[in-house]
Formats: sequence, structure tokens, C-alpha cells
Amino acid sequence: MLFEQVCIIGLGLIGASLAQAIKDRQLVGRLVAVDRHALSIEAALKDNVIDAGSDSLLDVVEGSDCIIIAVPVKTVALIFEDIEQAMHKGLVKADCVISDVSSTKLNVVDAAKKVFHELPIGFVPAHPIAGAEQSGYSARRGNLFVNHSLIICELTSTEPEAIEKVSKLWKSVGAKIMNMDVEHHDAVLAYTSHLPHLLAFNLVEQLASHDDNMDIFRYAAGGFRDFSRIAASDPVMWHDIFIANKPALLNALDEYSSYLAKLRNLIDNEDSTELLGLLGRAQSARKHFGHMLTSTPYTKQLSDPSNTDNFMTTSSNASSAYIITPSTTINGSIHVPGDKSISHRSIMFGSLAEGVTKVTGFLEGEDALATLQAFRDMGVTIEGPENGEVTIHGVGINGLKPSNTPLYMGNSGTTMRLLSGILAAQSFDSVLTGDASLSKRPMERVAKPLREMGATIQTTGERGTAPISITGSAKRGSKLKGITYDMPVASAQVKSCLLLAGLWAEGKTTVIQPEISRDHTERMLSAFGYNVDVEGNKISVIGGGKMTACNIAVPADISSAAFFMVAASIAKDSEITINKVGMNPTRTGVIDILKLMNANITISNETYVGNEPVADITIKSATLKGIQIPEEFVPLAIDEFPVLFIAASCAQGQTVLTGAKELRIKESDRIAVMAEGLIQLGVNCTVTEDGIIIEGKGDNSESEAVFGGGEIYSHHDHRIAMSFSIASLRANDTIKIEGVETVNTSFPGFAELCNSIGMNIAVKSA
Ligand code: S3P
Repeated sequence: MLFEQVCIIGLGLIGASLAQAIKDRQLVGRLVAVDRHALSIEAALKDNVIDAGSDSLLDVVEGSDCIIIAVPVKTVALIFEDIEQAMHKGLVKADCVISDVSSTKLNVVDAAKKVFHELPIGFVPAHPIAGAEQSGYSARRGNLFVNHSLIICELTSTEPEAIEKVSKLWKSVGAKIMNMDVEHHDAVLAYTSHLPHLLAFNLVEQLASHDDNMDIFRYAAGGFRDFSRIAASDPVMWHDIFIANKPALLNALDEYSSYLAKLRNLIDNEDSTELLGLLGRAQSARKHFGHMLTSTPYTKQLSDPSNTDNFMTTSSNASSAYIITPSTTINGSIHVPGDKSISHRSIMFGSLAEGVTKVTGFLEGEDALATLQAFRDMGVTIEGPENGEVTIHGVGINGLKPSNTPLYMGNSGTTMRLLSGILAAQSFDSVLTGDASLSKRPMERVAKPLREMGATIQTTGERGTAPISITGSAKRGSKLKGITYDMPVASAQVKSCLLLAGLWAEGKTTVIQPEISRDHTERMLSAFGYNVDVEGNKISVIGGGKMTACNIAVPADISSAAFFMVAASIAKDSEITINKVGMNPTRTGVIDILKLMNANITISNETYVGNEPVADITIKSATLKGIQIPEEFVPLAIDEFPVLFIAASCAQGQTVLTGAKELRIKESDRIAVMAEGLIQLGVNCTVTEDGIIIEGKGDNSESEAVFGGGEIYSHHDHRIAMSFSIASLRANDTIKIEGVETVNTSFPGFAELCNSIGMNIAVKSA
């Protein structure tokens, strides 16, 4: 039992719901209640919700070790007087837990101070963020608090044990506990609850006082109904709350008025770009706030997006799974989503260009959406994405504005590294954060050379990792300096970061790459009219130029196509055509490697989309053989190795990969994580310092199956999840893959596409 006897004062919606929840779960020895409405007490006794009740505290409180005050804020002071009297009379002990449910906290604590002089050690101010438009005992719901937040305002005078007990009680009725200090609570609630209620009441009043109000209400559309829903709440309660939280609410209201005035101006001046920007930012903030708070993907819908409280309570470790029943043959002609690298860059360059850039084929996956959101946060008006179409109203090379909040990059290393280069040169400071996987990835690889260029940049994580804090050089009144940088690794992200920083630098910035890495930055800079000098592995830009908007058609992502190239190769009697895939020669290593492994690949309809080559790729089943992968292919197939390991497992003989240390610092340690999964599914492999040796099972004449069934963890890495899905084409039992929400990083619709060609993936939602 949490308490011997709980006394709830006030059987309104919150008090009665708490009583019901406690009774349903039999959490306490005895439950008594006080309410000035005899009818509520009578009903609660009849319904067996309480064991005793009265309209006077002194009648029923004796023996209570917990009192919960659930009366309107204005009345709380009077209740404290009753409790003080009960203590005085010895009916309750001095250490009795006293808590409340009020929506304002400062006035409640002040009232307690006035009555008790010294705050009782059991006093725990609390506030459940739950409610409904209906009020009173009969509106009660025993599950009202499930998955809702309970804010506790810890006071220095309170015994930790009392806080612990109150937390346990609320957790037991399903609430999630958050801590806040009293002032902060009142300020936050002024914005998130009190101001919206005030505005809803105000709008209804405004419309109702019109002469033609009947018409206005008769034709009131969904907008009015949605907006005014909360104006159906109890006016007395809200009157009390508005007055109780006067200082914080007035602050919020003043700020609101200045925003409204700004909006009025935009409409008056018909400033479409700014207006669209403001509305677009608001729309995406509404959609994405919850995801940012809970580190869940942008593309995953919250269970009830209309419930703002869910934003705080949706679990951050929710995980979806694929349950894949083996299938053997696949066939079809498919399209895979747009290229991730090019989608990122289209937003970045379009934002920095002068004029309007239209993008088609944009990848609406998590990573590219993180880039899009970051530029919106920096004041760029971006319309869409809608069916892969995005319109970017470029602000010019010096037009970015500081974001009001840290820029959240989700899982995207490309966003974080490329943006570091851009932000190092700005006239404002920035903070870049990411999800758990991104926060483990090395960021010093860009921070160090940026510092050589004169940037002020700190990787504030534990080991040269995010969050990254950047002081823009223009803010310090200085310019970055062009450098020549000999890159220790062939990383397109590092190269692009420095070239981008070079756009604002004094003089020439040159990067020398040890091997060729993807060149989308170079190509797109040229497309936007910025001169890039490429001499073999040496790439240079001169700072101080400008970019001019252009239209970008994003080709299909060869990294996404790779899953189907391997799938059709390892499956029996299969043939797949993947249409209009990007064939940039810095990306086609996967085709070269598969061809060396004896894959049957035909390239047709070679053409250009924008300034990127594309072609259709047809792959047929083949007997693959193990190979020593030539090291020069590694940077050209860097993202495709997880699925190439699946191909190697199905090949005859051994496949050896060397020179691929970089794989250890991708979205996961792709060597270790793939090895773990392969072994789990019955494939022998040996991890080496810079690669892996895989013993292919393709020459097992007894069975076509290469993999057994089993459970695989994605380690928050999209490509791991998708690669093991492909393994199901040669598995003899069900493969379950945990953590597949991460697939949306690069390939929304992956499971559906697999199923459309003959695979059998069931998606189990979190
Ligand atoms: C990318 C470059 C590669 C790649 C990543 C995207 C890019 O990373 O792995 O998925 O868009 O520039 P590195 O450049 O760090 O190898």
C-alpha cells in the first residue's frame, strides 16, 4: 500500500478521476473525500469510489497520511487553513504528505506560506497535465492520467520521501513524472495552456458579439470549431487561473500581441515570402516538435498529434520491428526514392542561392527532412515537400538568420558536417544537436580543419562529438581564411564541409582527397553558378562569390537501389529493373563489386537528370562468388557494404574486405553490427581491424538457404535493418528485425516496395 489513508479534497474532474484511478488499482488502504457538494459525495459513496466522505475536512481526515487538494486555485488557501486546523487538533501528523493538482504553482506555494508560516515537510506541489472540457464528478475517468505528465515542483523544504511517495502514487495511475521549479512551471504553463485558453475564449467572444453572429456561427467551419473547442471549459476555473498566474500570463500575452502585429504587417504588405515562411515554419514545428522532444523520427506520426501533452509523454525508446517470412523469388520493375546526398545539398544550396529553386524527386526521408527543417529554422521559406517537390525561396549567401533553438539534425551526419562549414562563417552563433547515434559520431574531423580556417567551433560531447557549438566568424568581425587541406580520409562530408566554408573564406580553399569520394557538392555548386576548380583529387573554391537559383531533379538513390541489386542476385529465378537510378561514377562502386562477384547486371537507357547521369539497372539471379574487394572501390561503395555482406554470405567462397575502417563510424559500427547479425543467422565471419572476412555459404549443395531465422537489432542504423531484410530471400526461417523505424532515414516505403515484388515483410508498430 502506498498510503494508509488518502484524503482527496474536491471531487471535480481531476479529484474524482484520481479517486477512481486509485480505487480501480487498489493503491491505498482507505480513500476518503471532501466536497462541498453533498451530491458528489453521495454519488462517490454509492459508486464505491470512496470509503467515506463529507463536506467538512475535519469529519473524515483523521488518520490520513496523504491529502490531495483538487479544488479551484482560488480556494486552495482556505483548504490550507482547514488542514492546519486538522494538524493542530492532532487528526493528521505534521509529516502528512500534502499535495495539490493546481495549474498555477507560485500562488499555491505563497498561500501555504501564509497559512503554515513554515512550509510543511510533506508539502509537494504537483500538477497533472490532463483534463477535458467536461467537468465535475460525473466526468471522471479512471484512465485520465495514463501517459500524461505530472509536473512536480520540488521545494527545498520538502522531505525527499514525500516527493518519492507522491511520484509513486501518480506513476501508479499511469502518469509520467517531470520536475520543474515553481516559476518555470508557471511561465511554461502560461504559454502552453493558459494563453491558448484565453485566446479561444476571446475568439468566441469576438465572434459572438458581432451583429451577424448567427450567420458567423451557422457557417462556422472546422477552423473555428477546432480553435474554439477549449472555450467550452469551465469559465470560473479559467477566471481563477488567469488571475492566479497574472504575471506570467501577461508576459505571454504581450509577446503574442507583438507576433500578431508582425503577422498583420505581413498581410498588409502582401509579403508572400515572409508570410509563407512563417506559416511553413509553424506547420513543421507543429508536426515535428514532438519528434524532436522524444528523439523519434520526423516521418513517424505520434499516436495523437492533436494532443499536445503527448508531445511530452510519447516514449523515446519506442521501436518498430519487421517480421519477415522467407520468400524465394522476386520480380518487377521498381522506382526507389530520391538520392539522399543530392536531396540534402539541394536544400542547402537552394537556401543560399539568390532566387527560387524548385526541386523534384526530393527524398522525403528523415535525414533530408532534418536538413530542410534546419534551414526553415534559419529563416528560409521552403514550400513542401509534397510528392517530392520542394520550392526554396533562396535568401542569398548572407541571408541566413540565427535559429531560436538548437538545430536538430536527427540521425544525419551529412547535415551536421556540411552545416558546420556553413555556420562557421555566419554572423550568428549556432548549436547543432542530433539523436543518440549521431551524437556518437566523430565531429572533430570537420571541426579541426575548420579551426585551421579560423573558425570558433567546439564539439561539446564527450569524445569530439555533438552537440557542436559554433561562434560565427562574421559575428566576431573576422573572415575565415582559405586553406589547403590534405584530407586524412576520403570523406565527401569533410570535403563538402570545407568547400562550403570556403564560400565565405578569404582567398582559395583547397581540399586534397586521398581517394575519390562522391562529388555531388562540386557538381551542384557548378549548377548554381559557383566556380569550382577540380584537378584530379584537388578541389578548390574561391570565397566571396554568389549562387543563383536553379531547378534540381534528384535522381533515384543508388544506395537504395543496392538493396534490390543484391536481392535479385541472391534470390532464385528473379529479375528486377530499377528505373532512373543515379549513376554518378563516384557512387557506382556497388555495381563494380557485384560484377566482380559474378552478378548479372545490365545498364540501359543511360541519360542525364540535371547534371547527374542516370540509367535503368536490370539484375537477374546469379551464382555469386567470393572476392577480395579492391580497396579503391571502398569510398565508391561506402554506404552499400552492409548489403554487400549479405551478397558475400550467399556467394561461393570467401569475401575479404580491407581498407574500410570508415565503416566503423557510420550510423553504427557497420562491421561489428553486421558481423553480430551474420553470426546470429548462422554465417561465419571474422572481423578485422579495417574490414571483415565472410565465409560464403553459396556452395552448400544440400540447401539453398544460407541464413537461419533469428532476431536482429538495427542499432539505429537504417542500412543494417534493410540489409538483413534482404537476407530473408535465402533464409529458412523467420527473421525479426528490431528498430526499423530508422529505415525512414533514407527509404520511406521500403517494406511496401519489398512486398510489391514478392517479399513478405510484416511491420509491427511500436
Ligand atoms: C555522404 C558521404 C558519405 C556517406 C554518407 C553521405 C554525403 O560519408 O557515407 O551517407 O552525402 O556526403 P563520408 O563522406 O563521411 O564517407
